[in-house]
Amino acid sequence: MNAKYWDTCAFDWSSHYPFGDAKQQIFNFVKINIDKVISMLNAPCHILDIGAGANNREYFGFPSDVCCIDISHSMLYMQPRTKRIQADARAKLPIGDRSFDLITALFLIRYINSDQTKTLLLEMFRVLKPKGCLVVIDLPANQNPQQISKFDPLSFQKLAKKSGFKQVSGSMSTLTVNKYVSSGFGGSDYSADFQIGVVTAQKY
Ligand SMILES: C[S@@+](CC[C@H](N)C(=O)[O-])C[C@H]1O[C@@H](n2cnc3c(N)ncnc32)[C@H](O)[C@@H]1O
Repeated sequence: MNAKYWDTCAFDWSSHYPFGDAKQQIFNFVKINIDKVISMLNAPCHILDIGAGANNREYFGFPSDVCCIDISHSMLYMQPRTKRIQADARAKLPIGDRSFDLITALFLIRYINSDQTKTLLLEMFRVLKPKGCLVVIDLPANQNPQQISKFDPLSFQKLAKKSGFKQVSGSMSTLTVNKYVSSGFGGSDYSADFQIGVVTAQKY
């Protein structure tokens, strides 16, 4: 899995993924969880979205003051954005200490391994301002060979605590989708329930 692979996905991600009923449900789930955390933070809220993809305006509103990091140049340039940085979430982030109030990683964690997740958590901690928050959302199920990890909120919470985060909480929810067609988020060919996990945490 590399930037080239994601470059080839960018057009589809910007327009039709995920398909059908799942799309609205996933966006609602993400938005509710992000809005909940933003409401606890002091405005103005500087947001860093890591693995931002091609259509994160759906989550944050448009235009939004969100700094987008992605390994794929094509993903980053699919939509107008205030700030975009092409960078690999598996390495040191090209961002100064204590820069953001909120960091999100939405449907990224399945694409990196557990050592890389540990590195990323330490980087997130470094880049967050004191009292800044983290929201991580992903699916536990893997549907394609690019997805090398299974997202488990419990294990992720433990790693977050080890990285120094406080107020760590997480849960797994079940969403029921009708006429769900497979997508980059995972899925099945017919109506089904699927699980989606969220972890939130705060830097002291
Ligand atoms: C499944 S998509 C999710 C996109 C977006 N967060 C969303 O919810 O629509 C995963 C995104 O993570 C990016 N990505 C994958 N591996 C990455 C890495 N190591 N560093 C930074 N971005 C990465 C991909 O280019 C892609 O845009």
